Amino acid sequence: MQVSISFSDNPKNNYTIYIDELKDIDIDSKVAIITNPKVAGLHLATLLQKIKAKELYIITVPDGEEYKNQKSIDDLLENLFNHKFDRHSSLIAFGGGVIGDMTGFLASIYQRGINFIQIPTTLLSQVDASVGGKTGINNSYGKNLVGAFYQPKAVYIETAFLDTLPKREFSAGVAEIVKMAVTFDKEFFEFLEKSNLHKKDDLAKAIEKSVRTKAKVVELDEKENGVRAVLNYGHTFAHVIEHETNYREFLHGEAVGIGIVMANTLAVNMGLLSPDEATRIKNLLQRYDIPTDYKIEDVKKFYNDFFLDKKTKNSSITFILPKGIGDYEIKKDIDKDIVLKALSEFS
Ligand SMILES: NC(=O)c1ccc[n+]([C@@H]2O[C@H](COP(=O)([O-])OP(=O)(O)OC[C@H]3O[C@@H](n4cnc5c(N)ncnc54)[C@H](O)[C@@H]3O)[C@@H](O)[C@H]2O)c1
Ligand SMILES: [Zn+2]
Repeated sequence: MQVSISFSDNPKNNYTIYIDELKDIDIDSKVAIITNPKVAGLHLATLLQKIKAKELYIITVPDGEEYKNQKSIDDLLENLFNHKFDRHSSLIAFGGGVIGDMTGFLASIYQRGINFIQIPTTLLSQVDASVGGKTGINNSYGKNLVGAFYQPKAVYIETAFLDTLPKREFSAGVAEIVKMAVTFDKEFFEFLEKSNLHKKDDLAKAIEKSVRTKAKVVELDEKENGVRAVLNYGHTFAHVIEHETNYREFLHGEAVGIGIVMANTLAVNMGLLSPDEATRIKNLLQRYDIPTDYKIEDVKKFYNDFFLDKKTKNSSITFILPKGIGDYEIKKDIDKDIVLKALSEFS
């Protein structure tokens, strides 16, 4: 299965996303596979059977979001210079979103930009992070604050890699799938309600649908000046939850699950979503053991923490709310009392 992504104003950035078509990849240059020890231990042998390159290097970064930083980028740069990588060399990101974001950023800055390929191995990175060219690292000021929009040359999604994914990581990816269905595609949502993503065919279809949705959104708005922000549905709340719990209690996708339920509560109160639709979304999340409950200790503090988010411009918060299932509204300047009332339903 193939999904193409094309940029009418910049066609040289176009690429193809291959789903379950990891055939031989033959690259006539120096190549480095950037991965981590966990993914390498599980799946590198499989990948190596598919890759041919002039010279091939494997470079690992320790596993974990805490290594998605400038120090890792410096180490990686040093490695590439030591191996005399040049402008025609290529990188392959082989891992979850952490490896993908870091490798993309590395590719964007190495000698002003070299080619890279995404081979995502988590559900979250297959349906979301690997597509669309957002790359970057974290620093002490926050997440993903240093980076570049830099598109890969291709994305290869192999669902067999997901067989070893821990259950919680799988569920975290499902939350991002639900996000895309609720905001953009009613039929897709209805498919999710009646399918079982633990079955290979249903999962492949959901991945394809998500990737098509994401590709379309990115084609329309590569640099997030408009519709791409809709992919932040649930995220305004999730970022506060992740911050409040020191990024320890919930995986990102789990926090997104709770955030979706919070956004829905606000949407119901504003008459955009029916209580019945909100229940259907919550039921779907719960079917995949995605958390939907969170106790807000201090509603005012939670509200103030919205403003920590880098996506908050000039002190107005943007909420992405579902308008029924399959459509959205981008709401700025919702009255503070209305937001506080929705939050208080979680206190
Ligand atoms: N660029 C974007 O558009 C975008 C979008 C969403 C998220 N992100 C970023 O993605 C990151 C989160 O990605 P993630 O959820 O993939 O986390 P991750 O990369 O940390 O992977 C989660 C865990 O799963 C392990 N893992 C990976 N593949 C595996 C496999 N096949 N089997 C078993 N274990 C495996 C990893 O080693 C890690 O321990 C965050 O840094 C986030 O900022 C980026
Ligand atoms: Zn997300």
